[in-house]
Amino acid sequence: MSAVRIVEVGPRDGLQNVKPTIPTSTKLALIRKLHAAGLQTVEITSVVSPQAVPQLADCKTILADSTVQSLIADPSLRTPVLIPNLKGLDIALSNKVREVAVFVSAAEGFSRANIRCSVQEGIDRARQVAEKARAHGVALRGYISCIFACPFDGSTPHAAVLDCTRQLLDMGCYEVSLGDTVGVGVPADTEKLVRYLVDAGIPVAQLAGHFHDTYGQAVANVWAAYRLGMRAFDSSVGGLGGCPYAPGAKGNVATEDLVYSLHQAGIPTGVKLPELVKIGQWITTELAIPNSSRAGVALFSE
Ligand code: HMG
Ligand code: MG
Repeated sequence: MSAVRIVEVGPRDGLQNVKPTIPTSTKLALIRKLHAAGLQTVEITSVVSPQAVPQLADCKTILADSTVQSLIADPSLRTPVLIPNLKGLDIALSNKVREVAVFVSAAEGFSRANIRCSVQEGIDRARQVAEKARAHGVALRGYISCIFACPFDGSTPHAAVLDCTRQLLDMGCYEVSLGDTVGVGVPADTEKLVRYLVDAGIPVAQLAGHFHDTYGQAVANVWAAYRLGMRAFDSSVGGLGGCPYAPGAKGNVATEDLVYSLHQAGIPTGVKLPELVKIGQWITTELAIPNSSRAGVALFSE
């Protein structure tokens, strides 16, 4: 069975919505531990407005840390940083970041809440970032939020997702991560959307899945997408995650649940599951929140 590339988003998506301030040292320890557990792609942080996401206001300290700098410099790893605009890109560039992720929404309501502009303005901002990133040899990943539904506008038409996907690929994203921000999609939805995008000419190798797990459907969504040829999935250790601008949404699919499911199917990920289980237990204890990974909890108590 062909391998899956996991994009660990715990240090960014996982932490951005936690209310009490997390010590920078804990965030750095999380990044180090995830790398040691075999995760080759770790989204390090985001460089966004500190008013918008106070939890990640220490992003510059994170990026300047010597261990993070050595991970960023390692050509065998990917260490994307999420950014909304040129200001974020400039901060990333000054910290020698080699990959950034831009993010747009397929729905107007979430776009306005999350980045305070329309969908098309968000795409235009992302394009400006893309042009400058390309000029500096920085790799570009793209996210689309609200692929199935928006917390403000209801269900999202497939055509809106296709339009965003095309524009992100046109501006040079090597991959577009399809975000079920509110975590409402079921495998039948995933199958319909992926078939629609692929039938419209989007290469399946350039699609990644980013499933939040509000309704417990995320691992099943990954499986539906895998069976249609997708091989890159975002996840968060301990099932951490959520967006401050998507009320009611729960965390990302837990990396432990994803790895357990894939390994049981004979699909390699390069991740050491026992190490990951310990990290999920450690970080959720540090944050004093329940461990949302079902596999993580089960394996830890074995
Ligand atoms: P705005 O208020 O329209 O922007 O926000 P602004 O340009 O007027 O700036 C406001 C202040 O932020 C200014 O500071 C700027 O300097 C500063 P002041 O002068 O008031 O002191 N600022 C920045 N600081 C650091 N880094 C920056 C930056 N940009 C401006 N890059 C803006 C517009 C887009 C900036 C804001 O709304 C924002 O940062 N939004 C990001 C919100 C966010 O991070 N959401 C979560 C990530 S997306 C997500 O979780 C979804 C995803 O996981 C996929 C899925 O699940 O669907 C990716
Ligand atoms: Mg997300």
